[in-house]
Amino acid sequence: MQQFGLAGLGVMGKSLSLNLAGKGVQLSLYNRYEADVEENVAASFIASHTELAGAKGFEDIASFVQSLSVPRCIFLMVPAGEAVDEMIHLLLPHLSAGDVLIDGGNSFYKDTERRCMQLLQSSILFVGTGVSGGEEGALKGPSIMPGGSAEGYAAVKIFLENIAAKDKTGKPCCSFIGKGGAGHFVKMIHNGIEYAEMQLLAEVYDILRWTAGYEPDKITETFNWQLDTNVNSYLLEITARVLKKKEGNSFLIDNVLDKAGNKGTGGWASIAACELGVAIPSLTAGLFARYQSEFLAERQAAAALYTIQRTTAAVDTAALFDAYSLARIVNHHQGFHLIDAASQAYGWNIDMPALARIWTNGCIIRSELMSSLQDILKDTSRILLHPSIVEIVKTQLPQLNHILALAAINNAATPCLAASAHYLHYYIQEQSSANIIQAQRDYFGAHTYQRKDDPSGKKHHTDWKI
Ligand code: 6PG
Repeated sequence: MQQFGLAGLGVMGKSLSLNLAGKGVQLSLYNRYEADVEENVAASFIASHTELAGAKGFEDIASFVQSLSVPRCIFLMVPAGEAVDEMIHLLLPHLSAGDVLIDGGNSFYKDTERRCMQLLQSSILFVGTGVSGGEEGALKGPSIMPGGSAEGYAAVKIFLENIAAKDKTGKPCCSFIGKGGAGHFVKMIHNGIEYAEMQLLAEVYDILRWTAGYEPDKITETFNWQLDTNVNSYLLEITARVLKKKEGNSFLIDNVLDKAGNKGTGGWASIAACELGVAIPSLTAGLFARYQSEFLAERQAAAALYTIQRTTAAVDTAALFDAYSLARIVNHHQGFHLIDAASQAYGWNIDMPALARIWTNGCIIRSELMSSLQDILKDTSRILLHPSIVEIVKTQLPQLNHILALAAINNAATPCLAASAHYLHYYIQEQSSANIIQAQRDYFGAHTYQRKDDPSGKKHHTDWKI
């Protein structure tokens, strides 16, 4: 009998299979049959990889399930959404009580909650797990964020920990996050943070390219200087590499159309923030910049109408990287705040330092900052309130303000840097402008307001017209 099943041989499914096989796991692999489109996928994949010598391939669901030792452990690597429900529907008649299904796609956490409940009725243990690291991560060691059935996780822990990336101390970047949709929730926020991290790098590039007037290879050099500093991250490294890629004499980046796609997880993160009443403007700015980029023809028409030129100016790169570093801290503060709010609202009891730890390697947002957050989150779930961060903010805020002013004066769009700076200013000032909002609400809608001179918290109403 085979030890572990994997269904869905797309790019991620194939990479995870090779990773599992490399760890000596006896695998059964399943891929659906679709005439002329997907035929013999599992068998051909096994035949073309010597590492998979002990694996068995299937396109018949019953034989796939029967090939596995009981309790069966099956990793679903099918696209998020209906395909997961279809796969569960196909598998269910062949499974028995105590079998474990792991959904490793980017599923919506509320779907995962529903599937956990639904499968529990048949005593099937459902583990909804975030998997990060892309194709290479899946192959060499991803960061794994399992949630759902704790009992199910206990049965598959050995496999997941085995294939996961390892942190600096050699511990697997895999840790149980919480019941229900907790694993997929944190993966969704990981992606929201990822969008902002990417956008911040895009803005740093944009300022260096068009305000400072640097060529892409000079920007690579500038980025490379940062690789030994505390702003180092996987995304910084790959962006530096992207910028030096040439096609003939030209930089490939100049030929990449400036319309950014997305698969929806960043949008879900923003919706979750609205549902929980938590402000995540840095994450949302990363998402909205992608949305705005989509309207290319409209942007071109607007550019023709306005004819406002970008202007060049000297850019202090040290100040730019301080600004970038601070915006990243604010981005992570917002992401972890949202996770903490969800953890409390849904009773997930998420261990925040443990989450930061499993994000120190394997995943897309791994970075020096993430490594330092492991300790910071032991003291507080609000990163910006930590004494060590307060010191950094105090030194870097003037640089962030300076860079934003420079960008604005020279007509550069920096939505994520700006959102981060404004969040920060709002956060660190005792007196906000919300008293005006309350007075306006009370004026036109008698929504009432609380008074500073009435600590009872009583709601007051005033006739503001008189
Ligand atoms: C990861 C990535 C990955 C991401 C895709 C698509 O952690 O490996 O976050 O899971 O979802 O790269 O992201 P887009 O929404 O940008 O298409």
